[in-house]
Amino acid sequence: MRVGVLTISDRSSRGEREDLSGPLLKERVGNQGWNVVRFDVVSDDQEDIEGRLQAWADSGEVDLILTTGGTGFSSRDHAPEATLAIAERLAPGLVEAMRAASLKVTPHAMLSRAVAGIRGRTLIVNLPGSPRAVVENLATILPALPHAIELLREDPDAEAGHNPPLPETKM
Ligand code: MTE
Repeated sequence: MRVGVLTISDRSSRGEREDLSGPLLKERVGNQGWNVVRFDVVSDDQEDIEGRLQAWADSGEVDLILTTGGTGFSSRDHAPEATLAIAERLAPGLVEAMRAASLKVTPHAMLSRAVAGIRGRTLIVNLPGSPRAVVENLATILPALPHAIELLREDPDAEAGHNPPLPETKM
């Protein structure tokens, strides 16, 4: 799995605040044995975010882009709009799962406007900005990501993931 990690933050992009969530994501992704092939910090400007997402997706070298930050309600939070602008298809199940799991931890999960989408063969998922939120949300979607990427690559073995053993029920 080839992963891009994009931190979205005005202050971190200007060097005024240390980016904690990007390096944390990088570490957690590395722990899975996946390769972080792109890593950057951009401002909250929608055009900056769109430009980076589009360039990474269209390079053909990134299977999964994880963004962190910019999903809340402040007027500078544009991660979802930028993702929607460049995505060709939506992947709502991933963000539905993240919000459902996060609601068990904090009611503020309702305040994440994160979206997930697909451009070409690249999956893009928005994560919230705080280190804690990044770890919690990544843990939720992690088990589904390898199969998601297999499907996007149209890997011939991907179908195997659709046929887990049937549960033993009396029907
Ligand atoms: N989800 C989890 N699991 N844990 C958290 O601490 N923080 C929430 C939410 N989702 C949080 C979470 C908060 S406080 C906000 S405002 C939104 O994500 C959006 O965060 P962002 O603006 O940093 O992207």
